Amino acid sequence: MSKKISSFGFAWIAVFGFVFFCAGNDARADVYSQLLTPEMKGAQFVGTEVCASCHEKQYREFKFSTHGRLATKDTVEGVPQGCEMCHGPGSVHAQNGGGRGTMINPSKSPEVCFSCHMDKKMEFRLPFHHPVLEGHMSCADCHDAHGTDVRPWTATSLEDVNEACFKCHVDKRGPFAWEHQAVRDGCSTCHKPHGSITDKMLVARDANLCLRCHIQSDFPVIGDRNHATNMTQGTCWSAGCHTAIHGSSFDRHFRDE
Ligand code: HEC
Ligand code: HEC
Ligand code: HEC
Ligand code: HEC
Ligand code: HEC
Ligand code: HEC
Ligand code: HEC
Repeated sequence: MSKKISSFGFAWIAVFGFVFFCAGNDARADVYSQLLTPEMKGAQFVGTEVCASCHEKQYREFKFSTHGRLATKDTVEGVPQGCEMCHGPGSVHAQNGGGRGTMINPSKSPEVCFSCHMDKKMEFRLPFHHPVLEGHMSCADCHDAHGTDVRPWTATSLEDVNEACFKCHVDKRGPFAWEHQAVRDGCSTCHKPHGSITDKMLVARDANLCLRCHIQSDFPVIGDRNHATNMTQGTCWSAGCHTAIHGSSFDRHFRDE
C-alpha cells in the first residue's frame, strides 16, 4: 500500500516538475521579449561562439565564470545559455557589426537577472535594501558577471566581500587603531547585502546580533561590567555605547566618546 502511494507521488512530482520547468522557461522568454528595444525586435539567438570574434576578452573570462560553467548548450527549451542568457538574442547586433543599444545591458536594469533569480527581487523589496530596483545601483556593482567568481568573494578569502563594499562605504575600511575582528570576518556577518526587514539591513535587530559571537556564560556581565541596565535602554549600539562598531581610533570598546 505504502509503495503504491509513493510511486503515485513520484508521478505527480514528475508532472509538476515538468510543468514548473516549462512555465519557468516561458516566463523567461517573456522577460526577453519585454526587454528588447525596438531595434532588437525579431532578433534570434545565435550562440556564444558568434560573440567570440568581437568580444574576445569577455569570451575568454566567461568560460571560467559561474554562469559559463552552467552553459553546456546554446539553448535549452528555447531559452539561451551563455552570453545571451543575460544579453538577449544577438543576431541583429552581430549583423550590424555590434554597436550600442542592440543588446540588453544588465547594468542598466536587473530584470534579466531576476528572470532566473526571482527570489532576489523579493529581497530588494524588503523595507531596508540597496537601491537596485530604484535604478541607483546595479547587481554588477557587487557581482562580477564575467569573472571567475560571480560572487564578491572567493573560496579562499571572505575579505573580498568587504572589498566590494568599500568601493562605496570607504569610511568602513579604516585603518582603525582598534579593529573589530567581526568586520574582518566579512560585512555579511552582520548585514544582509541585498535587503532585510531590519534597519540598516542588519541580520538581527537586537543584542542577538552581537551575542552570536560574544556568548558570555555569565551574561549580562561582560568583562568587569554589568550590562543589565544598558540593555534595557536599547541595543548594544543604539543605547549610545558601541556606536563605532566598525572600528575605532579612540576607544578599544568601540565607543565614540
Ligand atoms: C550572468 C549574466 C551575463 C552573462 C552570461 C554575460 N554577461 Fe556580459 N555583461 C553582464 C553585465 C552585468 C554587464 C555590465 C557590467 C559590466 O560591464 O561588467 C555586462 C557587460 C558586457 C559588455 C559591455 C561592456 C561595456 O563596457 O559596456 C559586453 C561587450 C559583454 N558584456 C559581453 C558579453 C559576452 C561576449 C558574453 C559571453 C561570452 C557575456 N557578456 C556574458 C552580464 C553578463
Ligand atoms: C561584429 C562584431 C560583434 C559581434 C559579432 C558581437 N558584438 Fe557586441 N559589440 C560590438 C561592438 C563594436 C560594440 C560597441 C562597443 C562600444 O561601443 O564600446 C558591442 C557592444 C556590445 C554590448 C554593449 C551594448 C550596450 O548597449 O551597452 C554588449 C552587451 C554586447 N556587445 C554583447 C554581445 C554579445 C552577447 C554578442 C554575441 C551574441 C555580441 N556582442 C556579438 C561588436 C560585436
Ligand atoms: C538564465 C538564467 C540566469 C540568468 C539570466 C542569471 N543567472 Fe545567475 N545563476 C543562474 C544559475 C542556474 C546559477 C547557479 C545556481 C545557483 O547557485 O543559484 C546562478 C548563480 C549565480 C550567482 C552565484 C550563486 C552562488 O551561490 O555561487 C550569482 C551571484 C548570480 N548568479 C548572479 C546573477 C546576476 C547578477 C545576473 C544578471 C547580471 C544573473 N545571475 C543572471 C542562472 C541565471
Ligand atoms: C551591495 C552589494 C550587492 C548587490 C548590489 C547585489 N548583491 Fe547579490 N550578493 C552580495 C553578497 C555580499 C552576497 C553573498 C551573501 C552572503 O554571503 O550571505 C550575494 C549573494 C548573491 C547570490 C547567491 C547567494 C544567495 O543569496 O542565494 C545571488 C544569486 C545574488 N547575490 C544575486 C544578485 C542579483 C541578481 C543582484 C541584482 C538584482 C544582486 N545580487 C545585487 C552582494 C550584492
Ligand atoms: C555602488 C555603491 C555601493 C556598494 C558597492 C555598496 N553599497 Fe551599501 N549603500 C549604497 C547606497 C547608495 C545606500 C543607500 C543609502 C541611502 O539610502 O541613504 C547603501 C546603504 C547601505 C546600508 C544601510 C545604510 C543606512 O543608513 O540604512 C548598509 C548597511 C550597507 N549599504 C552595507 C553595504 C555592504 C555590506 C556592502 C557590500 C556587500 C555594500 N553596502 C556595498 C551604496 C553601495
Ligand atoms: C559586528 C557587526 C557588524 C559588521 C561586521 C559590520 N557592520 Fe555595519 N553596522 C553594524 C551596526 C550595528 C550598524 C548600525 C549602527 C547604528 O545604527 O548606529 C551598522 C551600520 C552600517 C551602515 C550604516 C550607518 C553608517 O555607519 O554608515 C553601513 C553603511 C554599514 N554598517 C556598512 C558596513 C560595511 C561596509 C561592513 C563591512 C566592512 C560592515 N558594515 C560590517 C554592524 C556591523
Ligand atoms: C562574527 C563574530 C562577532 C560579532 C557578530 C560581533 N563581534 Fe565583537 N568581537 C568579535 C571578536 C572576535 C572580538 C575580539 C576578541 C574579543 O575581545 O572578544 C570582538 C571584540 C569586541 C569588542 C572589544 C572587546 C574588548 O574587550 O576589547 C567589543 C566592545 C565588541 N566586540 C562589541 C560587539 C558588539 C556591540 C557587537 C554587535 C553589534 C559585536 N561585537 C558583534 C567578534 C564578533
